[in-house]
Amino acid sequence: MFIADFLKGKLQAILNVSECDFSVFPSGNSKFGDYATNIAFVLAKNRSASPFALAEDLKKELETNKGFCKFVSAIEAKSGYINFVLHPAWVAHIASENIQAAIKQRKKKTIVVDYSSPNIGKTLAIAHIRSTIIGDALARIYMYMGWRVITDSHVGDWGMLAGKLIAAYRTYSKKSLAQLSLEDIQDLYVRFTNGEEDNPELTERAKQETVKLQRKDKENMKIWRALVKISIREFTDIYALLGTVPFQHQYGESHYRTLADSIVKDLVASGIAQKSQGALIVPLDQEKLPPALIQKTDEAFLYITSDLGTIAFRCKTWRPDAVLYVVANEQALHFEQLFAINRLHPLDAHALLVHVKFGMMLGFDGKKFSTRHGSFISLRDVISEARERAYTIAKKKNPTISEKQLRTIARVIGIGAIKYNDLSQNRNTDVLFDWDAMLSLSGNSAPYVQYTYARLSSICAKAKAKVKTKKTTWTQKDFALFDDAENVLLKKLIQFHDVVLQASQEYAPNYIANYVYEVATMVNAWYETHHVVHAGPVVQSVRLKLVAQAMTVIKMGLGLLGIGVLSRM
Ligand code: ARG
Repeated sequence: MFIADFLKGKLQAILNVSECDFSVFPSGNSKFGDYATNIAFVLAKNRSASPFALAEDLKKELETNKGFCKFVSAIEAKSGYINFVLHPAWVAHIASENIQAAIKQRKKKTIVVDYSSPNIGKTLAIAHIRSTIIGDALARIYMYMGWRVITDSHVGDWGMLAGKLIAAYRTYSKKSLAQLSLEDIQDLYVRFTNGEEDNPELTERAKQETVKLQRKDKENMKIWRALVKISIREFTDIYALLGTVPFQHQYGESHYRTLADSIVKDLVASGIAQKSQGALIVPLDQEKLPPALIQKTDEAFLYITSDLGTIAFRCKTWRPDAVLYVVANEQALHFEQLFAINRLHPLDAHALLVHVKFGMMLGFDGKKFSTRHGSFISLRDVISEARERAYTIAKKKNPTISEKQLRTIARVIGIGAIKYNDLSQNRNTDVLFDWDAMLSLSGNSAPYVQYTYARLSSICAKAKAKVKTKKTTWTQKDFALFDDAENVLLKKLIQFHDVVLQASQEYAPNYIANYVYEVATMVNAWYETHHVVHAGPVVQSVRLKLVAQAMTVIKMGLGLLGIGVLSRM
C-alpha cells in the first residue's frame, strides 16, 4: 500500500474536501512524525484563512475520528503542517504487505524519457553526465512504478552541425571513414571551427555541405551515415561503462526532417507562423515569450522545428501520458517556446510535456567545465579516474583481497560515487565535482551507503543467516520484542514506496538518495546499541529480519539510482 495515498484519501473523506492539490508525504525526519501534510496551507489559501490556526482545527477534528485513529496514533500541528505518527498495529500490518500488488493496481501509463541526447561528432563530455544519470534514474523509477517507459536519446545529428562535420572531414581528414574514431572526428571538428575564426570561406563551405546533405547528395549521405555510426558506437560504449539502462531508441533529429517540414507548412497555413524578414517566426507575446524562429531565410533545419516533429511522432507512435525532457536549465527558453507552440497548435493534446531541468556540473574550482576549443573533459576519463581512486581506497582497506575482486569493487564504488554525487542533490542546483567528498566513506555519499550494505551483509554471514532479499514477513510476536529505536527504524523502512512515488511525481531522484542515506545512518546507529550476532536466538531472528528489510530497501533504492551494492568492500 502507498501510505501517503491512503492517508490522503482518508483526509479527503473525513474532512470532506474535494481539493486534491494538497499532498501527504513521508516526513523525512521522525521529529516531524512519520508522514505529514500541507493540507492546511492549500485550504487556507482558498479560504483566505491562517494556515496555522486551520492546522490546529483540522488536527482536533481528526483526533475525534475513531476510524482515523486506527491508522494514526498521534497527530500534531506544527507551523501549519499536520504531522502523523503511524499506529503500531497498522505498521505491523503494512510491513508484511505485498507492495507489488499495490503497484499493479495503479493505472498503467506510458512515459517517454528523452535524456542524454548528445550531439554527434563529440565524445560524451562531463556536460552530458547529468542528463544521462538523471534520465536513467527517472526511467528506472517509472519502470518500478509500473509505467510503460520509453527511453529515447534525441541525438543531434542533422542541420548545420552535420554539414560542418562533413566539411571538416573533407577538408582535413587523412584517414578513411573506416579508420576514423570519434576522437579523430572531434579533432577535425575543433580544427575546423578554430580555422573558421579567421577564414570565412570555411563557414561558407560548411553551409554548402549542409545544403548538399539536405538534398541527399550521395557522397555526403555516406559520410554522414558513417559519422553517426561512429558516434553512436562510442556513446553506447560509455553507457555500458556507466551501466545505464540501454536506450530503446536513439532517433536523431534527422529522423524528423520530413515531419518537421510538414508541421511548418501547417503552422503557416493556420496563420500561427508568420513571415518576418524572409524567415518564419511564431509570435508568442500572449505567452509572454519572445517569438520563436522556426525557419531561417536559408530554410536551414532548426532545433525547435525538429522538436515539433518529435512531439508529433512520439504522440502518434506511443500515445504517451507524459514526455520528460531531461535537459539543462540553459535550454529553458527553448522548451517554453516549444510547449507554447504546441499549445497554439496541439501536436499532442494528450501528453504532459515537462522540461526536467538541471543545473551545471562545476569543476573543482567552482567554474563551469569548458568544452570549447579542445579543453575538454571526457566522460571516459572521469569514469576511469573514479575507478582508479576507488581502487586505491579499496586496496588500502583490504590488502589481502584478490585483484579481480578489487577491480569489481572499484567499478561499483567509482560509478556509484559519480552517480550519487549528482542524484543526491536537488537537480536544479549546480553540482560540484569534488572527488574527496564523492568517495568519502563517512559522509552523505554512495560509498557510505554501500559500505552500510556490506556491513549488514557481513552481519548476516556471521549469524549464518541467509537473507531473503525479496520480502520479509512480520508477526505480532516480532513487534512485541521491538524497542523504540526498532519501531522507528521499521517505520522508516516501510516508507520506501512512498518515497519512490514522491520522487516520480516530482522528477526528483534526490528523495530516494537522501532516504537511503537516512536509512543507512539509522541502521548504523541501531547496530551500535543492538547486538545481532551475539543476541539470543529469539531476539536474533527478529533483528535479522530488520537487517534483511534494511538491506532490501538500500539495494532497491540504490538500484533505482543505477547504483550497485557489494556484499563485501
Ligand atoms: N542534442 C541537444 C544538446 O546536446 C539536446 C537535445 C535534448 N532533447 C530534445 N528533445 N531537445 O543540446
